[in-house]
This record gives sequence, C-alpha cells and structure tokens, in this order.
Amino acid sequence: IPVQPFDYVVFGATGDLTKRKLIPALYHRFLDGQFDENSRIIGVSRSPLSDEDFQEAARKAIADFVEKDYQDKDTIDRFVSIFSYVINDVMNREGWGDLGKALRDDTKVVRAFYLAVAPDIFGPIADYLGKRKYYRRDARVVLEKPLGHDLQSSEDINDGIAKIFKEDQVYRIDHYLGKETVQNLLALRFANTLFEPIWNSAHIDHVQITVAESVGAGTRGYYDESGALRDMIQNHMLQLLCLVAMEPPASDDANALRDEKLKVLRSLKPIANGDVGKVTVRGQYRGVASETTSVAGYQDELPEDKKGSRTETFVALKAEIENWRWSGVPFYLRTGKRMAKRVSEIVIQFKPIPHSIFDHAEGAPKSNKLIIRLQPDEGVKLLMMIKDPGPGGMRLREVPLNLSFAETFSERTPEAYERLLLDVVRGNQTLFMRRDELEAAWCWVDPIREAWDRASEPPQPYTAGTWGPTGSIALIERDGRTWHEDDN
Ligand code: BG6
Repeated sequence: IPVQPFDYVVFGATGDLTKRKLIPALYHRFLDGQFDENSRIIGVSRSPLSDEDFQEAARKAIADFVEKDYQDKDTIDRFVSIFSYVINDVMNREGWGDLGKALRDDTKVVRAFYLAVAPDIFGPIADYLGKRKYYRRDARVVLEKPLGHDLQSSEDINDGIAKIFKEDQVYRIDHYLGKETVQNLLALRFANTLFEPIWNSAHIDHVQITVAESVGAGTRGYYDESGALRDMIQNHMLQLLCLVAMEPPASDDANALRDEKLKVLRSLKPIANGDVGKVTVRGQYRGVASETTSVAGYQDELPEDKKGSRTETFVALKAEIENWRWSGVPFYLRTGKRMAKRVSEIVIQFKPIPHSIFDHAEGAPKSNKLIIRLQPDEGVKLLMMIKDPGPGGMRLREVPLNLSFAETFSERTPEAYERLLLDVVRGNQTLFMRRDELEAAWCWVDPIREAWDRASEPPQPYTAGTWGPTGSIALIERDGRTWHEDDN
C-alpha cells in the first residue's frame, strides 16, 4: 500500500550515507510500489549541482549499491524523475529561498527533513526550518548519528532541535532498530507463549550480545574521535540489550515500547570508576602480514598527526541490570572491527538442568542456548539435547532446532533504512530513539569513557582477524563462562 505523498528533503545529499543507504533504500520502496506518484525527493547540499546532476548521482548510487537483479531501467527512470536539488549553504544562509520554492504547500503532502549532516549544524538548520516557509506542526525531522559524543553534547543537540521541533516530530535513527531480525526479537518474545515465562533470572544464566565486523575502521576521520564505545555500544548494542531485557509493553504504541526500553537503561548498574578495569576491556587491532595476507593495523591507517591514537576498535563489557527480572544475570557485550568474521548475534544461555538422570549416559547434558542471529544468515537457533539415534545405549548430543530465514522465506530481506525511511512518512516513531533514552544511554556510557581517558594503559592490542584481545576472553572466563563459538 503506498504511503502518503511526501516531500523528503535530504540535507547532506552528496554525502556517503545518502548514496550508500538512503537512495538505495528509497529505490527499493519505490520499486515495491510504496510511493504515491506525487512524492518528491529534494536533495540539499553546498555543492553546485543541477537537478540533472543529482538525478545522475542517484542513478550511480543505484548502479553501485542496488543488486543487479533489482535494477530495472524503466523504474530507475521514473524514480529519478522525482529527484530535484537545491544548493544551500547553511552557514552562509544561502539557498533557503530555493528550498522554500521546492516545498509544496499542501497539508496532504508529508514534509520530512532528513539531516544527514554533521550534528554541529543541526541547530542552525533547525533554526531556519523554524521559519514559516518551511515549518509545519506536522513536519518531521530525522536525525542521523552521531547524536553527541557524551551526555552534554547530546543534550546540546537535542536542545537545538527542541527549540523548533516537538518530540513527536523528531525521528532519531538507530539503524539497528530497522533490521528485520531486530524487529523479530519483538515477535519472538511477544507473539509466542513459549519464551516469556522463562525469560528471567530463574531460568537464564546470562546473555551475550556480539556485533563483530570483519572490516576495519578505514579512513573515516569520525571513527578516531568516536571509538567503538560511542560508535556501537552507546546506541546499537544498548538498544539490542533493551529489546532483550525490557518488560512486555502494553501495546505496540511507540511510547509504550520506548517507556520499557528507558526503564532498562535506567536500571543498568552504573560501572563504578574502580570497576571499569574489571568489567570492561578495550582493544585496538594491529596489522598482520604474511605471505598470503596483509592487513593494515588501525595505527597504519591513521594520518600522521593521529598516530599513537588510543581510540578503541574493540570493546567487551559486562553489564548488569538491577531489577527484579534480571538480578544476577550478566549481559556480556562485545563489538569490534577487524574481527574473525562478520557476525551479529544474541545468545541466551539458559541455566543447567536441576538434576541429571543420565549418570550412565555418554555425554553430559549441556544447558540450552537460544541464538538469535541478526546478520548474516538471519535466523533463530535453539540448541537442545537429544539422544543420538542408534541402539548403542544413551548417548546425549546437542543439536540445533534451526530456523533459517533464507530457507523459510523466499522474500528478500529489506535493509534497515527501507523500513525506517517510510516509518517517518507514516508518522510511526516506534523504531526511533526518544530523547530520554538517548540521554540515559549516554549517562551509563560516559563514566566508562572517562575512566578510560584517565587510565595510563592504552587499549590492549589484538591481531586483525581474531576475536579481540585476550582480556575479552578473560572477562567472561573469570565468571566461569565462555563466549559462544559458532559452528558454521
Ligand atoms: C554504524 C557504525 O552505525 O554501524 C559503523 O558507525 C558500523 O562503524 C555500522 O560499521 C555497522 O552497521 P551494520 O548494519 O553493517 O551492522
């Protein structure tokens, strides 16, 4: 079903995010017939481009970032014909009149402003957008990360936006929330009776959340300012933790869900200064060079003036949620660049059986594990014990009850941005972060950052292509547990 017609204004139209993510995502939704024909995409940036140049850039983005099977010439022609471009220099106040002319004065046309630009110009942009020509009470503003580098800067960004836009107009992107499998967590927990009764400290021993990437930090200047704690833990990983840990919301109303996530964030046990060294580990990858491979280390990729940087490219930590449901159940989180492989998964490790009757069996019963694979090879796996078939007596074996999405469904899995971009038009804020959530996450993360900044020792080195520094293994083994190792 098509969504309402819209004017989608993208600030930062010539940037990387627009070409890699936004245009391909919008194209897929267009291809699926979800655009009303009266919709427009208006690119805004400082570069002196014409409408035709921007349309050409959109064609190139599709050629480069949309799978060949989905590139259809007629559709692409129709799609780019809704693109136009406005040259606008926010800081020099130029080009606003042209934007005013490009916007349609029709309340049936949804007006959305997507700010894919550096957050220090969110405030000035919002100030302009507050003027009568651009602002409507039903207009929406979409904010891209980084939404601050600590609590204070995030409050400043939010204050700048809040001078003009009410919270119900603000859509803060955390693209992890748009991932199919992440939304599936909600279905798994709240559309089945099976899990919820055992989803607590009586039955669950601990939870692991891993987001491992095989790519490096590259030459993104932003990364060195950020590091893995801000880039991944503060947002994506804590959002995943919230979805696993939150109480069932009363409905699928955006605020009902976000209220529950907020309660989790506020129940996170603050990591005291003296404990940071015990329950957090940070690492930085170093290169490998052998006859067959050669991978640059983080330091090798940095410009001269940044050499010696102590920015972490890996973090492992133990989080605790101080509430009735999760008391005594640690959540181990780890994320890093240049790890052994690209895999994101949540592992729910259940407690051991209370009593074993299998003293004479071969193989001891292992505790059940539920593994929710977010990417790649999306799916859900339940590791259970069975009897190995055959007449040779009781032999216990762990086997997976395996739901692979690729095998079960023939549909292509949409990219996160496809869902999120159109949710903005639909006016559905469920999968976007509310201001209080964002700030609660910074509150928890800031003291870790500060302790690391004060520490004399640098991040622990790890070799590119491994599972991170040895400290990460020690972190979990100290508690008598191990990181889940995947078998495929
Ligand atoms: C982004 C981070 O938010 O998420 C990147 O800034 C990271 O550093 C990316 O690579 C990971 O997203 P995905 O969807 O590839 O898992």
